[in-house]
Amino acid sequence: MTVLEQLTSQQAIDLENKYGAHNYHPLPVVLSRGEGVYVWDVEGKKYFDFLSAYSAVNQGHCHPKIVNALVQQAQTLALTSRAFHNDVLGKYEQFATNFFGFDKLLPMNTGAEAVETALKIARKWAYEVKGIDENEAEIVVCENNFHGRTTTIISFSNDENARKNFGPFTKGFIKIEYDNLQALKKALQSNPNIAAFLVEPIQGEAGVYVPSEGYLAAAKRLCEQHNVLFIADEVQTGIARTGRLLATCGNCTCADKNCSGTPEVKPDILILGKALSGGAYPVSAVLADDPIMNVIKPGNHGSTFGGNPIAGAVAMAALEVVRDEKLAENADRLGKIFRQELANFASKNDLISLVRGKGLLNAIVINDTEDSDTAWNICLQLRDNGLLAKPTHGNIIRFAPPLVMTETQLHECIEIIKKTISNFKK
Ligand SMILES: Cc1ncc(COP(=O)(O)O)c(C=O)c1O
Repeated sequence: MTVLEQLTSQQAIDLENKYGAHNYHPLPVVLSRGEGVYVWDVEGKKYFDFLSAYSAVNQGHCHPKIVNALVQQAQTLALTSRAFHNDVLGKYEQFATNFFGFDKLLPMNTGAEAVETALKIARKWAYEVKGIDENEAEIVVCENNFHGRTTTIISFSNDENARKNFGPFTKGFIKIEYDNLQALKKALQSNPNIAAFLVEPIQGEAGVYVPSEGYLAAAKRLCEQHNVLFIADEVQTGIARTGRLLATCGNCTCADKNCSGTPEVKPDILILGKALSGGAYPVSAVLADDPIMNVIKPGNHGSTFGGNPIAGAVAMAALEVVRDEKLAENADRLGKIFRQELANFASKNDLISLVRGKGLLNAIVINDTEDSDTAWNICLQLRDNGLLAKPTHGNIIRFAPPLVMTETQLHECIEIIKKTISNFKK
């Protein structure tokens, strides 16, 4: 069988089942093409994508500007490794540090790698700048976090399915309740060995939990009082998804570090991934100012692909799209319409108990037990009606379309969701 041979959906699923590890449980739909907010399956059926590859495709599928940057750079120079310089990396680093307002960027490929990188930087900073005794540093994290799948990251996960039989785990993490300032205060006060507080500005995988107003800013102040680094994992929330360039930007929607809006929080370490490439290529990054990033010296950390020329070219194009097409503003405006419409609908429909989110990162909570398959079955029917979404945990369905969606398209999607849920029978 050649890659050019056309498969039916069932043939493609059978091949994956037979030859691929079973580490995912995908919705049964086989996609072969994408454009903007739409994807098509191998039989030619068209769908609205309401997951955006877990918020990587914020700029829409196959954005021409991003694809063009990818193709041009791939035809010129794809990879040098960091053994040599390349003529894109510096330009990209300058562009991205200006864009987000940090001194330096450390390039990686996946979100989990960038989280690992941030943890390493924080530990090194703790020993070399803060003065914690070697091997004593601890990092505060939140319950129900999701930061990726590496051994260290799952060491501080609550998800037994992600952890079971993968031990022994990495030490040095203290878990506290999310959105609980008292718990953070207690953890910081009682322990002089805390290097950092790692937090998702909204807990996406856990089910789109939005913390209380002011939580992030107050948490940052507590960190400052205790000389603890505030690390924001914006892999999912970042790059316009929540109606702001970053979810830590507070009320500012622009994509300009010199903007007049006041950022709610400037993290000490910012972690980005996913939409940094618009989904066209794996690109992630850690950003920090010099007093923190300068603890990293040659040989301390690296990756063969991190900082490759394609990644740099793609990321610059992807960020320009976010800025030029005002995607944060669009996500903010459409998100308000989406939540308002679904909240009205939920008030008259027993199947939805809650609608929550920010920008175009939203979720509905299905009124059924956590272990029921109601949310999954609703997603199957949404699929049949032309919209692709997936449950996060248990009975929560996340809705995260590409941010290039128009208001007319959004209303069409809201109608599909309402119709599907109104007609849903278990
Ligand atoms: C907040 C957060 N951090 C890290 C990751 C891991 O990213 P990746 O899957 O690219 O390793 C994710 C992925 O969903 C995420 O949502």
